Amino acid sequence: MIELKHVTKRFGSLTALDNLSLKLERGDVFGFIGPNGAGKSTTMKILACLLKPESGFATVCGMPCATHGTKIRRIIGYMPDFLGVYADLRVHEYLDFFASAYGMPRRDRKKIVGDVLDLTELSSKRDAMVDSLSRGMQQRLGVARVLIHDPDVLLLDEPASGLDPRARIEIRSLLMELRRMGKTIMVSSHILSELHEMCNTIGIIEKGRLLFSGSIDDAIRKSGLHKGIELRVDDHEKAAIVLRGLDVVTSVEVERDRLVIMIEGEREASRAVPAALVAAGIGLEVMQPRTVKLEDVFLVLTKGEVS
Ligand SMILES: Nc1ncnc2c1ncn2[C@@H]1O[C@H](COP(=O)(O)OP(=O)(O)O)[C@@H](O)[C@H]1O
Ligand SMILES: [Mg+2]
Repeated sequence: MIELKHVTKRFGSLTALDNLSLKLERGDVFGFIGPNGAGKSTTMKILACLLKPESGFATVCGMPCATHGTKIRRIIGYMPDFLGVYADLRVHEYLDFFASAYGMPRRDRKKIVGDVLDLTELSSKRDAMVDSLSRGMQQRLGVARVLIHDPDVLLLDEPASGLDPRARIEIRSLLMELRRMGKTIMVSSHILSELHEMCNTIGIIEKGRLLFSGSIDDAIRKSGLHKGIELRVDDHEKAAIVLRGLDVVTSVEVERDRLVIMIEGEREASRAVPAALVAAGIGLEVMQPRTVKLEDVFLVLTKGEVS
């Protein structure tokens, strides 16, 4: 549905995208994650046919962005990171303006505007002035705007940035609804945990390079952090010494009321660890896989390099 192949984009001497390749299948919800300046917006602008790369190519539905801008713009809905707000317009006028820009006949526009207001739960704000809306509502209006022409593909650049927790949840549930409708979505954020519930795939980008793309589970596996086990025992100090002596244990850390150990070989460890503790006369209260924090996965995969 969307493909970038060996895309390099420069701004003067700065390489914003460096040989970037990625692919989204139809119906994918792809979370595009990276720190500020990583190249997320640049990638989306290339897909939205607003920027041309120096080398490599981008396609949407098999059509090259470089040559099929007019057709691609009908298939995609692009919501930029900065939403120009039109003062002096009411919500429905704002949407009607974009509907007419897409060449929709006047008689259809009222229904379409009503439909997208329903979907984005803004119907009660139909007659409100755009610049009087809360930031969360303005972001939902931004999504409403890109849905006007019922595009199959959505490119949403940081739709939840700057929102309070409640507004974030509202944006998330709106995106889940769009996912259920079968839209193919690329959504960016600099916060990994914000995206993981709604995305089936993610890409991690830093300094213009794609460090990872795949499922969240793959990301966790690749980070190696899943190999952690949490233990609660009746003597942490003694247990730490015993566990450090085991081949299957690669590291032992004492964290407040528990021990976190990293292991090599889950099966072996699940036998060797309790056996060693019992043999040493240590009472084992809890043993469970460590809950992996996505922030930690992100830090490992990006090696802490933030531009
Ligand atoms: N129009 C531009 N002119 C010059 N540099 C740009 C321009 N757009 C983006 N950049 C630079 O390209 C890099 C990637 O930017 P961007 O794609 O906006 O990152 P992100 O969206 O991940 O924060 C940054 O270093 C940014 O300063
Ligand atoms: Mg950006």
